[in-house]
Amino acid sequence: MNTLTRYEHAAPTWSKKARRLGYTDAYIGFLKRSAITSGPVLDVGTGSGDFALSWVAAGGSTDLTLLDPSAAMLNHAAAQFAEAGYAPTLLKCGLDDLSCDAQYDAILASHVIEHFADPFEAMRGLALRLKPGGQLFMVVSKPHWCNWPIWLRFRHRWYSAETVCHFAERAGLQVIRTHAFRSGPPKRTSLGYIFQKPQH
Ligand SMILES: C[S@@+](CC[C@H](N)C(=O)[O-])C[C@H]1O[C@@H](n2cnc3c(N)ncnc32)[C@H](O)[C@@H]1O
Repeated sequence: MNTLTRYEHAAPTWSKKARRLGYTDAYIGFLKRSAITSGPVLDVGTGSGDFALSWVAAGGSTDLTLLDPSAAMLNHAAAQFAEAGYAPTLLKCGLDDLSCDAQYDAILASHVIEHFADPFEAMRGLALRLKPGGQLFMVVSKPHWCNWPIWLRFRHRWYSAETVCHFAERAGLQVIRTHAFRSGPPKRTSLGYIFQKPQH
C-alpha cells in the first residue's frame, strides 16, 4: 500500500483522532502568539485541515491555500473549513507537483516532511515557496518508541531536532525556535519548529 492509499483510508477518522489524542490543542498552543495574522499562507500536506484550523484558531491569517495529494483528505478539510465559515483555496497535488511559482508569507507543514524520500529536498522546496522574511511552521515526528505503532500504519520517518534544524539551515532558513509540546501523545511523538527566510 502506498502513502496516498494509507491516507485516503485514514481520512474519515483523522480529525476526530487528532482531537482525541490532544494534537489539535497542542497545535493551537504552539501557534498562539506566533501565527502571522495577514498575507497568503500555504499548508502543505494539510490532511483534513487540522493544523490549518489550529492556525486560524490561534489568530493566523485566513488567506489560506491547502495542499494535499489525497482527495479524501482535502474533502474533509474543505468540509471542516466550510463549517467554520471559511473557503480556502484547495490544491490536490504533492509539494513536488506544485506548478505555480507563488510565494507565501507563511508555510505550514505538520507531519509531512516525514513522508519524503529526501527530506532535505522537501525542506528546500518549502523554503523556495517562502517570501523573503516569511516563516515556516513545522511539526515533525521525533525519535520516541511511540512512533513505532504509528509507523506500522503510516510508514513515516522521524528526525531529531538537530537534524531538522540542520536541514532548515542548509536550505537557507534561520531557526527562530523549537517548541516542545507539554503533554500526552504530542509530547512523546513530535516537536514544533519555526524557521524564517532571511530578508536578503
Ligand atoms: C500525517 S498527515 C498530516 C496531516 C496534517 N498536516 C496534520 O498535521 O494533521 C500527512 C499528510 O501529508 C500528505 N502527503 C503525503 N505526501 C505528500 C507530498 N509529497 N506532498 C504533500 N503532501 C503529502 C498525506 O496525504 C497526508 O494527508
